[in-house]
Amino acid sequence: MNDIAKHLLQQYLEPYDPAQSIPAYIENTFRKHHHQDTWQHSLKVAEQAVILSERYGADPHIAQYAGYLHDLSTLFTDQQKYELAQQLGIQILKEEQQVPYVLHQKLSSWLASAWFGLDHPDLLSAIKCHTTLYPELGLMDKILFVADKCSWASEHSAPFIHQMKSASEYSLDEAIIVYLNYVWQQRDQMVIHPWLEATKAIFDMEQTKQLLRTLPALSQDIQWGPVTAKFQPITSLHEIDTSLISNVSIVPMVGDQVVIMQLEDGRWELPGGTLEEGEHYIAALEREVMEEMGATLIDYHVFGYFQCTSEAETPYRPYIPHPSFIRLTVYGQVQLDHQPLNPPDGEQVVLVDVVSIEEAIKRLTQTGRQDLADFYQIGYDISLRS
Ligand SMILES: [Fe+2]
Ligand SMILES: [Fe+2]
Repeated sequence: MNDIAKHLLQQYLEPYDPAQSIPAYIENTFRKHHHQDTWQHSLKVAEQAVILSERYGADPHIAQYAGYLHDLSTLFTDQQKYELAQQLGIQILKEEQQVPYVLHQKLSSWLASAWFGLDHPDLLSAIKCHTTLYPELGLMDKILFVADKCSWASEHSAPFIHQMKSASEYSLDEAIIVYLNYVWQQRDQMVIHPWLEATKAIFDMEQTKQLLRTLPALSQDIQWGPVTAKFQPITSLHEIDTSLISNVSIVPMVGDQVVIMQLEDGRWELPGGTLEEGEHYIAALEREVMEEMGATLIDYHVFGYFQCTSEAETPYRPYIPHPSFIRLTVYGQVQLDHQPLNPPDGEQVVLVDVVSIEEAIKRLTQTGRQDLADFYQIGYDISLRS
């Protein structure tokens, strides 16, 4: 530790003697610097963390100490937090430069280890991510996070608190999802820490997989003529080999409603189709919504793909990858501004309808397209969380 860091630390912290009680030491420190309210909060968090540990089978002693220690470095001003992190060689992310307050999680974890000599990895990890979460969360990380958030002062400063507390009665993950969803709705007004964003992506994917397991058609292999297809959720095109994309499908949306289309023979369908030779999949999406729905594509979000394998001897079209290929699936906003173009060689669309997701699922199921009903369901569900 260099002299600058030592000087900063000594402004607030007496030397710690291992014979001393840690909570008594922290209480005295907070009192001396007129932070009694933070000590009261830390006591509440410790108490709540013990309750959660007993409920979920974690070590209550570690949970209690995580509560005592987690906010100790809020003693420092934001500028001091930043300087201290710099002097201690703690990595400072761009978002932490913007909001140095959040560095208190890393600094408190450092203090637990370097100042008090505590080295239990669960303790240090829980303190280190108690404000922003972290993509790989252990049980103690979840416990301290939920205990901390549920110990916030008021319904006013934390409107999610009631829902989060009731969720924590049966599931830490559900409690965390309540918080993540709340923050996500406010994301335009705050700096989102990359650890929180990455955690949200992981929880979202877990929710998608849970939903997928409940969908009767999409959870199984689907047979489309000679093609066997299996749906896989993804969040980014990096997860697939885009050179294998041969078809595109979209769950088209107008606001929070979905668009479905009806063919001449009464069947309900969704827009999409096979790429033209040399056509980019985004151009294909734009073309398909224009031809089949008379719509302009405003935006699109990739949420999955069908891994397809064809039993046919020859490819559907000579330039299409064969026998394995990918049908890319997206949801996106469209603007309905024309009539369907209904090219003579394509399916003839007689009606384009904007309906609630429930109504779309009803119509698709009633006409025997459970696969499409499931597809709309999962695309819509993912769009709500994004
Ligand atoms: Fe904190
Ligand atoms: Fe806290």
